[in-house]
Amino acid sequence: MPDDQFRHPSEALAREAHADRETYEAMYKASVEDPEAFWREHGERVDWIKPFTQVKNTSFAPGNVSIKWFEDGTLNVAANCIDRHLKERGDQTAIIWEPDDPDSVEGGGAQHITYQQLHAHVCKFANVLKNLGIGRGDRVVIYLPMIPEAAYAMLACARIGAIHSIVFAGFSADALGARINACDAKLVITADGAPRGGRVTNLKDNVNQALTHDYDVVKCLVVKRTGQQIAFREECDYWLHEEQEKVSDVCEPEEMGAEDPLFILYTSGSTGQPKGVVHTSGGYLVFAAMTHQYTFDYRAGEVFWCTADVGWVTGHSYIVYGPLANGATTLMFEGVPTYPDAGRFWDVCEKHKVNQFYTAPTAIRALMGKGDEYVQKHDLSSLRILGTVGEPINPEAWNWYDRVVGGGRCPIVDTWWQTETGGHLLTPLPGATPTKPGSATLPFFGVQPVVLEPQSGEAIETTEAEGVLCIADSWPGQMRTVWGDHERFEKTYFSDYKNYYFTGDGCRRDADGYYWITGRVDDVINVSGHRMGTAEVESALVAHDAVAEAAVVGYPHPVKGQGIYAYVTLMGGREPSDELRKELETWVRKEIGPIAKPDCLQWAPGLPKTRSGKIMRRILRKIAENDHGALGDISTLADPSVVDDLIENRVNR
Ligand code: WT7
Repeated sequence: MPDDQFRHPSEALAREAHADRETYEAMYKASVEDPEAFWREHGERVDWIKPFTQVKNTSFAPGNVSIKWFEDGTLNVAANCIDRHLKERGDQTAIIWEPDDPDSVEGGGAQHITYQQLHAHVCKFANVLKNLGIGRGDRVVIYLPMIPEAAYAMLACARIGAIHSIVFAGFSADALGARINACDAKLVITADGAPRGGRVTNLKDNVNQALTHDYDVVKCLVVKRTGQQIAFREECDYWLHEEQEKVSDVCEPEEMGAEDPLFILYTSGSTGQPKGVVHTSGGYLVFAAMTHQYTFDYRAGEVFWCTADVGWVTGHSYIVYGPLANGATTLMFEGVPTYPDAGRFWDVCEKHKVNQFYTAPTAIRALMGKGDEYVQKHDLSSLRILGTVGEPINPEAWNWYDRVVGGGRCPIVDTWWQTETGGHLLTPLPGATPTKPGSATLPFFGVQPVVLEPQSGEAIETTEAEGVLCIADSWPGQMRTVWGDHERFEKTYFSDYKNYYFTGDGCRRDADGYYWITGRVDDVINVSGHRMGTAEVESALVAHDAVAEAAVVGYPHPVKGQGIYAYVTLMGGREPSDELRKELETWVRKEIGPIAKPDCLQWAPGLPKTRSGKIMRRILRKIAENDHGALGDISTLADPSVVDDLIENRVNR
């Protein structure tokens, strides 16, 4: 079937789903024609302590960017995710936890945590936090594996009004330390170790290293996961299981303002250090819950599985907050897709009768390469909806997912969004939107995408358009500011194109009005669905004393989407060698984490620069892509001869 041809939802699904085509169109129209009225109605999906009277108070105006939703309402996010479900579904499973090792005895195999049990765990955890001196507005860094305690920790913070900032457990000690400092955290929550794919990361060691400068200031709460030996700091480390003995399981939720911060999540941009994206309580929860329900057509009693890590926004919105706010059963997986073998995802789907499965294109491509037999061994008849997120999905992977995993009967929702957006902005709805492989299709309710001509910044009015993707007006899940730096917020998202939110992505709108994301237009690359600033990798490289200069670009990678290609100029007196290459790779892992390790590292005697000294990345990208026939005009280079050397010594993958 040609890839630009529609795949239509079945009639049965259209009938039974939360939205069919007509409903989507009517609701979308209402949401953009009268956002106030629309969100006044849908703001009611969460329980407010004090109901809001104001709905939307937002401005993208230059110098005056301000975003507030439901601002005079009060609520507690944890109570919305737990307490309000107790009467109706206290004995229903809230979280299914699947450990790294499917047969582990010490992990007890999978765990089923009911809403009632979740309530007790979270209340206890919240009381432990209070005992450690944590209260409203305090920052708590969470550096945990994918264990239920990660969700308890998030919800415990939300319950007492503390602001969590999760750092992905794959980040290095240095990266962790930078984030602890950046948000001035009072407490770090970690585990002794993190098992993943049969190997263990020594998380507590990393925390100790990260805290070397603030050794006696920042407290650390440790979850016992592996039971391995750890270096325990007697004055300021606490075992969770010991602290829990001292507290009750009664903890009244704090009454929080709709605009009180719920969490900070650091994410990479095109310049400088990662930004602390701030999400607040009311609007975020409304948006996470509503997108979870409509995008996945989630219905009561179903088992929802998002394979992301809680260290990324996907895990925040679609493992914890969205599903739990909806009273769903959410699956949390500690492991990796290929352990013990490449059938693990499908094994887990079969074992827990998963209904909605949500993963990243990079995982689909990797598993596609292992062969269909890993999928076909399993009974996947429980699957109803498939989702993807994180990067564009190539039609080949889309079709494999559809045919082999979905058996041709499960609609695929390709969800485009960002850490900044809190939830889905472009996505099909299963019963409403005909799909096309590779397109994120149409906007969610309340979302007004515009395609701008990149140079002039003019909105392109024709249906068919290609340019940069911006959003014309606010939606409740939008980030509110950069932690501690509102100016940077305005500059990053609202200064290139006035009165619009600038996404950083390029896109095409086809004759049917469908959106196709073409990738970042800034110096951000997307490696296996993880976002990375090329500037960050460069500054890690130049921090090594052998490196004089470095330039990093992305190149197309068959599995990761994009790979990292680094050009490195050495200090005078230092010679290229395989040892030095390995040393630099290890160095980047230490500075940032394994996900930032360059896939290709080329020794560059010189880098192509303009006469004013600006590195011409366009040229470096072309060389990395092996497309040097298309280098374009290089006459403006200070020294055009460096290009020949780079082409000649290109790293061949
Ligand atoms: C960037 C945001 C949002 C959760 C995961 C990533 C790219 C995301 C898609 C998609 C094409 C996508 C964009 C975006 N992206 N989803 N369905 N199709 N591209 O969050 O780390 O904030 O990265 O990921 O380039 O800007 P993130």
